[in-house]
Amino acid sequence: HDTSHIRNFSIVAHIDHGKSTISDRILELTRTVDERDMESQLLDTMDIERERGITIKSNAVRVMYDADDGQTYQFNLIDTPGHVDFTYEVSRSLAACEGAVLVVDSTQGVEAQTVSNASLAMNANLDIVPAINKIDLPSAHPDEVKEEIEEDLAIPADDAVCVSGKTGEGIHDLLESIVFLISPPAGNYDAPLKALILDSYFDEYRGVVATVRVFDGHISKGDDLLMMQGGERFLVDGVGVKRPAEVLMDELGVGEVGFVVTGLKDPESVRVGDTLTYAENPTDEPLPGYREAKPMVYTGLFPVDNKEYENLRDALEKLHVNDPSLTWSPETSVALGFGFRVGFLGLLHMEVVKERLEREFNLDLIATSPSVDYHVFKTNGEMVGVRSPQDLPDVTCIDHIEEPYLKAKIICPPEYTGAVMQLAIEHRGVTTDMIHLTQKSVELHFDMPLAELILDFFDQLKSRTKGYASLDYEFSEYRTSELVKLDILLSGDEVDALSFIVHKDKAYTLARGLCDKLKEIIPRQQFEVPIQGAIGNKIIARSTVKAMRKDVLAKCYGGDISRKRKLLEKQKEGKKRMKAIGSVDVPQEAFMAILKVD
Ligand code: GTP
Repeated sequence: HDTSHIRNFSIVAHIDHGKSTISDRILELTRTVDERDMESQLLDTMDIERERGITIKSNAVRVMYDADDGQTYQFNLIDTPGHVDFTYEVSRSLAACEGAVLVVDSTQGVEAQTVSNASLAMNANLDIVPAINKIDLPSAHPDEVKEEIEEDLAIPADDAVCVSGKTGEGIHDLLESIVFLISPPAGNYDAPLKALILDSYFDEYRGVVATVRVFDGHISKGDDLLMMQGGERFLVDGVGVKRPAEVLMDELGVGEVGFVVTGLKDPESVRVGDTLTYAENPTDEPLPGYREAKPMVYTGLFPVDNKEYENLRDALEKLHVNDPSLTWSPETSVALGFGFRVGFLGLLHMEVVKERLEREFNLDLIATSPSVDYHVFKTNGEMVGVRSPQDLPDVTCIDHIEEPYLKAKIICPPEYTGAVMQLAIEHRGVTTDMIHLTQKSVELHFDMPLAELILDFFDQLKSRTKGYASLDYEFSEYRTSELVKLDILLSGDEVDALSFIVHKDKAYTLARGLCDKLKEIIPRQQFEVPIQGAIGNKIIARSTVKAMRKDVLAKCYGGDISRKRKLLEKQKEGKKRMKAIGSVDVPQEAFMAILKVD
């Protein structure tokens, strides 16, 4: 039960620096997958991930590496997500590793996520192997990047390996470095079981399957196990590893990573971050607890067809199994009916979840504009958390409102400093610090309300810096702000699902922008539709959707019937993604229009 041939590591990187490509090359070079079966980015199993080229869920794969020293090593490669919304998943994966390969794009250098991932890895006491990627590109400058790694991250770069995920150059050296630089796992095979649950998913036939890292002891089929925090007890139905297809094994030994088939039918019973131990001979203490992932952004999710409400609840419960950061509570809207207010780590997380709900569970959903968690202090001294504009108490009962603030860190080339500061000011941000990292990069620190960050800030930042800036943020504190509720009226009726909480100083501009945007989005109806923006009883902006000039069928007058049918069908299809509010058909995009207002 010698662990000296095991290496558990993650590959971490700034988004797009080539983590998935390098993982693919490793699978190829170790002949874990046949070249013929090699589908690029094999580790990204979800369609959405593949389409968007981003890794969302962590995934653990075992590869066997025949090293130059003649020995065979077991590598457990734990993939991690690279987007700022998913920092929690990164730290969870790192807790299962002894080492990390830190990928830095040789054409881009160290960026915000490189800094935050490197510090997560250092805090977890991991052995770090820097890999400088994309050296096949003419614009590669690996020597400067090495300097940045030493200066900005304080990681010795002598051991850095230059690689190309594209051509495969240097990948062999990288594998050798992993053997030499990353420590084998410690742990005692005969001690009571201590295994960390890294991830889990629900399988209709086998129940919950958990991905685990064994720190002490060993697991095999038939073992009587206990979840230390959750309290659930079960008999192991089977254990195995992913290569990347699932392979059943006799046991998962000390230091190893693999999956455990729990047979448990309740997705809620398996909590990521919990410790598995023997029910009869438990370990004294669970592994150090995890920081719970806290939702930052809340949106309403409503089925277009109200009959789908229960299906939406089931789907959320299923997704929750391997995404414990997802939270929800029922929400009712006059305009949209029954739905849920769902909490997300960030906007990307929200988009991914909404897409998964629509594709994997075949639901047609309307998402309403995102909100943060406001703390509303009432005149009677009570404090209420408000995550939906509809829940805001009557103005006369409000003493003051506090909103969450962030510490944001933006790294960009010096020539964009002005543009970034301007953008921050427009988003109620205040510059607190400016550090010249290298000749080519400046790090700007801001205090900024979270509510501003979720409104298109990231896209704006990318476009104003030609994609060169990178962003990282963390919650800092709640602060008092002058906030008001902006209501939208269609044909004189307030539409609750279109309301929005905004800063007083921005209310007029936003109301005008929103009315104009809605005018573009809402199609012409048989009658004129006035759109109004209001604060309380005061109308502050207005626009009008003109009435339709002609009947759609008019131009088919006397025309052939099949064309007519086609038009009617097209119209019907268009309607599907609409929601009738009063007598007005409102398309899905309208509820997110606030994100599109300049
Ligand atoms: P996330 O999972 O979204 O964080 O991205 P990632 O870090 O996994 O990056 P990914 O592997 O998806 O690579 C990003 C882009 O860079 C893709 O278009 C790759 O084809 C390209 N790429 C990766 N490695 C290389 C390389 O060595 N050379 C060149 N020329 N392109 C590369």
